[in-house]
Amino acid sequence: MAKDFSVVVLLSGRGSNFESLAEQAEHFSITKVISNKVKALGLRKASSLGIPIDAFSQKELGSVLAQKEAIYSSALESSPDLIVLAGYMQILEPDFVTKNFGKVINIHPSLLPKYPGLDTHKRAIDNGDTLHGCSVHFVDVEVDTGPVIAQATCAIEPGDTPDSLSQKLLTFEHKLYPWCVNQIAAGEISLGLDRKVSYSPASRQSAKENGFLVSLDVA
Ligand code: GAR
Repeated sequence: MAKDFSVVVLLSGRGSNFESLAEQAEHFSITKVISNKVKALGLRKASSLGIPIDAFSQKELGSVLAQKEAIYSSALESSPDLIVLAGYMQILEPDFVTKNFGKVINIHPSLLPKYPGLDTHKRAIDNGDTLHGCSVHFVDVEVDTGPVIAQATCAIEPGDTPDSLSQKLLTFEHKLYPWCVNQIAAGEISLGLDRKVSYSPASRQSAKENGFLVSLDVA
């Protein structure tokens, strides 16, 4: 049965995070999946689950800006409750982010504010870190910034390579992201006007039981 809280997913690639969201959706429905890559594997996965898809090619639309406008208008068309970036590798326009602040979330493969941008696994290994992780955050205008909702940590073992680490971290991403979206959809986690994330006692408890870190900036 369709749930009231509607989520639009934006992705650019294989869509494993999207799949984990679809599989673990308890309090939300994914109403559409949109991509900036017409051949994204994640689109095929969405189609096979019967979820409507949309894809916009930069080449066909003539410019990145035209492509971005088409993507944003498709994303906002049904006034979704949340726009979820799941491996979406195109920087959002500041105007879109500002107008929709609090309504767009992202997952990033590092313990933000460490390692925004690309090659996070390699950078963590090269830096000699023993702890890595992933972060889910509300999206702000700078790349990979904005209030952190929750993080999952993952040990870096001797011998780990960027590939092995990224594989290992994915299993944490696949638990963390659905948890965050379910908590938001259930009203257990919210963003205040002061841009601080707040958590119900039940969601704090659940985070603890799952081994997730939650923002310290909470009331
Ligand atoms: C995931 O590891 C996600 O954290 C990362 O891209 C991968 C997408 O995998 N996102 C970013 O780097 C965003 N800055 P998926 O397509 O299998 O979900």
